[in-house]
Amino acid sequence: MSHKSIQEVRDWFFQDLKEVKNHEEILKFKGKFLGKSGEITKLLSAIKTIPLEERSDYGKEVNLLKNETLEELKKKQELLEQEGGQALETDLTLPGVGIRRGTLHPITLVIRQVSAIFERLGFSVESGPEIETDFYNFEALNIPQHHPARDSQDTFFIDDNRVLRTQTSGIQIRTMENRKPPIRIIAPGKVFRVDHDVTHSPVFHQIEGLMVDTDINFKHLKFVLRTMIQELFGESREVRFRPSYFPFTEPSAEMDVSCFACAGKGCRLCSQTGWIEILGCGMVDPNVFEAVGIDHGVYTGWAFGIGVERIAMLQYGITDIRLFYENDVRFLNQFPS
Ligand code: DAH
Repeated sequence: MSHKSIQEVRDWFFQDLKEVKNHEEILKFKGKFLGKSGEITKLLSAIKTIPLEERSDYGKEVNLLKNETLEELKKKQELLEQEGGQALETDLTLPGVGIRRGTLHPITLVIRQVSAIFERLGFSVESGPEIETDFYNFEALNIPQHHPARDSQDTFFIDDNRVLRTQTSGIQIRTMENRKPPIRIIAPGKVFRVDHDVTHSPVFHQIEGLMVDTDINFKHLKFVLRTMIQELFGESREVRFRPSYFPFTEPSAEMDVSCFACAGKGCRLCSQTGWIEILGCGMVDPNVFEAVGIDHGVYTGWAFGIGVERIAMLQYGITDIRLFYENDVRFLNQFPS
């Protein structure tokens, strides 16, 4: 045979492979053996020159060699990649991998903002269980069985006696049971209702407020709530109170804030009224005091409840409540904390 024998090419391949040190060299090396005029390719095309009776054995042998060398090349390539990775890890001159910092969720931001305002006014921040008994969610709040107010708060029931709380108002009851007046608390937390559209979510957040002492009247309520609104939305916001109804307050009121978009002239955001409804409030009903054993001949108090999503939507101009719960970082990153 005029050409190199299969064994020779094989030895040559393994000898040279040891010298290959990087990706470029491996490409060159591959060309030398398996390229168009590579040594193994030459062996393959030499099959025509092999006497007929040896041809089959020869063909098998060259093909075996080809497969073996392809396999070896693959292994070598993997090895080089691994070594390259290790080299990268130990190269101290390379820039570090950046750490991406998260931001606080807009709902958390609003809860913290409101809490800070009330803490300055001497209120403490309280919490209560999300699974609440009928007594704390309804009964003690002057909402007896069959009261129509139960229907207006489409409730998720756990069993006959327990519900996912529909309002944070139950925390008023828990606080008054455990503490003597003077009481000044706010209570932020999740609440749950069977409701779902662009402005309603089955899980949302409320902040409850309660103040109880001797001689507490509606003027204190007005002052505190106006202070909160002006701190949240700016000094130029005005508030107004409209008569309303809640079972746990008497009298009850709904508070509106002057429209952000038109400053009272009337626009789409405020349905042409100049005012945006923002919370419910009132003087604590004597029946509620009775349920917790506070003497309503001595003490008076007020309470309010506000929706956190509603504040955040107004503050940041968000029109779809679902954005709060989708956890899309492109949305969440827009609220610097
Ligand atoms: N719990 C009421 C609601 O979910 C909000 C509310 C209104 C709370 C008046 C109060 C209050 O404490 O006095 O709609």
